[in-house]
Amino acid sequence: MQHMTHIEDLGMEGVHAVVEQAMTWKRQHPGRHLEDVLLGMLFFNPSLRTRASFEAVMARAGGQSMVLEAGKGAWAMEHRDGVAMDGERPEHVREAAAVLSRYVDVLAVRAFAGLMDDAEDEADPVMRAFRAHATVPVISMESAREHLCQGLADVLTLRERLGPLQGQPVTLSWAPHIKPLPKAVPNSFLLSAAAAGCQVRVAHPPGFELPAGVRRQAEALAAQSGGEVQYGHEQLEAMAGSRAVYAKAWGPVLPLADEQAAAAMMKAHPDWRVGAGQLAPASADAFLMHCLPVRRDLEVEAALLDSGASAVVDQAENRFHVQRVLLDMAMQSIA
Ligand code: CP
Repeated sequence: MQHMTHIEDLGMEGVHAVVEQAMTWKRQHPGRHLEDVLLGMLFFNPSLRTRASFEAVMARAGGQSMVLEAGKGAWAMEHRDGVAMDGERPEHVREAAAVLSRYVDVLAVRAFAGLMDDAEDEADPVMRAFRAHATVPVISMESAREHLCQGLADVLTLRERLGPLQGQPVTLSWAPHIKPLPKAVPNSFLLSAAAAGCQVRVAHPPGFELPAGVRRQAEALAAQSGGEVQYGHEQLEAMAGSRAVYAKAWGPVLPLADEQAAAAMMKAHPDWRVGAGQLAPASADAFLMHCLPVRRDLEVEAALLDSGASAVVDQAENRFHVQRVLLDMAMQSIA
């Protein structure tokens, strides 16, 4: 039984295999390969693309899906062990994961970062609890540490547009926002692009460093794939000659002594908004990436999103294609 929640579950070869299989199945529909399969989807947080793309895969591949929202229709859930459950969460993940595993073939879970402490979010306690207590394969629909499906869809998008990715310069640029956002998407883009052999440049203002464990893992993947990872505080410098620019807001290094400070930090660099000016030093055919949802004219200039340089809708479509492969792999793992 194979869980697929973190890039460590796939490794460099697995990332490559998923992306290549997704490209093949995009050209040639694999048919009803998930016939009689029931996917359970448990959401602790909202979604448009993730929910719709997983439901679309199941419907088109002959399977079915069941959606539950923790704390909204389904009971709110506790994941910690050793605490008296005298608060607002009447269900424990231990029982919830075990019970849902009796009903479904694969369990997909979305549980965002707590955004209090980077170390705790890196440890990914909710997703780890589901892995520990489910008796069917668990697929992440975004957890505190990583958004595996998004990272794979992003590499598929790069691969389709750039061909072989070895040594291709791509830039991940921090962008402003009204509030701190989780680091799962930038973490996964960094990890996946490094595993694919890209030269990944990460640019952000001081104080927005990605978690140390994620950076170490990205460097190890890059060493294995022949890629490279660079970090800097100069946005335009990181764009120079880049083939793709991934704009994404993420929160500051946590914990912060002053909780109010995080929102102020997110608004302190409006000049980091990604627009045509930021893309100017990139290669002439450079394209814009963003996982969506995106705040237009805050994170990214609306004109750039509306231009031919934007790949954001292709990225969203590619969620379907990589998830189809992951679901197939999950079922193969229990065959
Ligand atoms: N990119 C992404 O995961 O989108 P949703 O939050 O809408 O699922």
